[in-house]
Amino acid sequence: MKRTHHCSQLTLADIDKKVVLNGWVHSRRDHGGLIFIDLRDREGITQIVFDPQVNAAVHEAAQALRSEFVVSAQGMVRNRPQGTENEKIATGSVEVVVEQLEILNRSKPLPFEINDEKEIGEELRLAYRFLDLRRQRMKNNIVLRSRVFKIARDFLEREGFLEIETPILTKSTPEGARDYLVPSRLNPGMFFALPQSPQLFKQILMVSGFDKYYQVAKCFRDEDLRKDRQPEFTQLDIEMSFVDEEDIYTLMERLMAEIFEKALGIKLSVPFMRLRHAQALERYGIDKPDTRYAMELQELNSLLAQTSFMVFKKVVEAGGKVIGIKADAGAQLSLKVMEELTQQAISLGAKGLVWIKVLSGDDVQSPVKKHLGEDLIKTLIQKFAAKEGDLILIVADAPKTAMTVLGQLRCRLAEMLKCIDEDTFNFLWVTDFPLFQYNAEEKRWDSEHHPFTAPKPEDISFIDTDPGKVRSCAYDLVVNGVELGSGSIRIHRQELQEKIFKILGLNEEEVKLKFGFLLEAFSYGAPPHGGIAPGLDRLLTLMTNSPSIRDVIAFPKTQKAVCPLTSAPSEVSAKQLRELHLTIKE
Ligand code: AMO
Ligand code: AMP
Repeated sequence: MKRTHHCSQLTLADIDKKVVLNGWVHSRRDHGGLIFIDLRDREGITQIVFDPQVNAAVHEAAQALRSEFVVSAQGMVRNRPQGTENEKIATGSVEVVVEQLEILNRSKPLPFEINDEKEIGEELRLAYRFLDLRRQRMKNNIVLRSRVFKIARDFLEREGFLEIETPILTKSTPEGARDYLVPSRLNPGMFFALPQSPQLFKQILMVSGFDKYYQVAKCFRDEDLRKDRQPEFTQLDIEMSFVDEEDIYTLMERLMAEIFEKALGIKLSVPFMRLRHAQALERYGIDKPDTRYAMELQELNSLLAQTSFMVFKKVVEAGGKVIGIKADAGAQLSLKVMEELTQQAISLGAKGLVWIKVLSGDDVQSPVKKHLGEDLIKTLIQKFAAKEGDLILIVADAPKTAMTVLGQLRCRLAEMLKCIDEDTFNFLWVTDFPLFQYNAEEKRWDSEHHPFTAPKPEDISFIDTDPGKVRSCAYDLVVNGVELGSGSIRIHRQELQEKIFKILGLNEEEVKLKFGFLLEAFSYGAPPHGGIAPGLDRLLTLMTNSPSIRDVIAFPKTQKAVCPLTSAPSEVSAKQLRELHLTIKE
């Protein structure tokens, strides 16, 4: 009995056809002698019916069917009786009256139902991932993932890109995380590192003249996991020669527009909005702003010349900033929430939080109402154009602290007040990042993106004198407050690259050891080049509006970086350790 149709294919046009379906028993109902089974495969569900009048033996055999048994059923397609059609599924007008049944396999009773409605603990879902992936939502995610990869590949091939693989067993690529290391059996005491990204290889491919490269690339990073991070994830890695930032922006805008149009039927508006890094911080207090709602930061220093409120006065005099946000309808939040927000502000580094609930007629409720005074309260209400029922939050501190604390509170408030439009995708380029970031703990400069990012030509002269002032040719693609991708125009001259390594505190020997091969390549005619790498898992998390990145990866790791399905990582045998020249310390 060879399968003739998928479980989503049959329609009224197939009435009286003899068909064979293969699939899983999704559900079964016994109705006065008739047995109805919803048969499920990857494509959908078809109702099959066992009627003792049609075939008593087959009906008898169907009594044994249980959830998730695998069957092959042959029968005749017929109209469902009037009133029993199911408009929710594609095959809802028909059913198949079974004449022959083969049970291909049985299933043990399930640890959870194959059903989207029930909440199931994630640990259990991941341990039985093969069952979890049978659920509609998860299956749709994996199908969409495959579709998005195909659209991206087709687009890039059309644009003249070549997909080139780069090694997994390789040398460390600095992207800011720890490396996963692999010991070498043939080279005692030596280790490969799994790539944190294909960064160095894609740049070397440019030196080789491959001009437009892409790769659906696995990356590995041993870092603390959050809900949008996995230790092993997939980038759409892209690099091009003879380009500037604008070329990368347009390419990505066209690519994203095509993906959203073809996979979701959503038209993105291009070009995407742009914000310089400094603007993003000033207006949103974060380098990946969610622009689906406003609630922008407002600097208040100029209003505070006359204030006698010491908390503000002292900060203004010390050159700090007093910054506030207004949340529409935020006054509905309880005093307990005000206390929580204050504690959150403090744990993020602020010294406190001023909150002001706007009541009617310029009256307010605030723990510092008296200190602020009537005049300042009026001025603040005007500045924020606040109405009755709104909430104003103010932090006074060093500029960076005040901005970042309010940036976080802004996100939190938006969630609590539900002012996020869940149906829009706000794409945004954040540009002009600083080249370096000061690492106060280790008293040195770190790269803000990675060490291969080019400085803005007009800022090169500050590299030696004032590294903090140098802006870079780096850009992030941000969507709804998520960093979807990062990239930059790269350094392609050996001398400049060596100089940057020096500022980063690498001595000549380290440079030679870690990046000698790159510098060597640069000395043989490296073209100007640049690229970007959107994270495909994050893209799919956004497209499917999934609560976790794990929901768009077939076999993800948990927050503790383990795989409950296979129990990896696990111990290895003494023999394996010996061969790898390793001993485990107790
Ligand atoms: P970056 O390190 O910013 O840049 O990474 C680019 C994108 O990869 C995704 N990403 C992750 N996704 C899931 N889990 C993780 N742990 C994780 N880490 C990163 C994000 C991120 O925006 N080589 C450069 C790119 C370039 O310069 O061309 C790079 O890897 O979506
Ligand atoms: P204090 O004078 O420390 O008792 O603070 C008085 C009020 O001002 C409290 O509600 C604090 O949360 C708040 N506050 C203190 N320091 C700051 C600050 N730097 N920025 C904003 N609010 C503050």
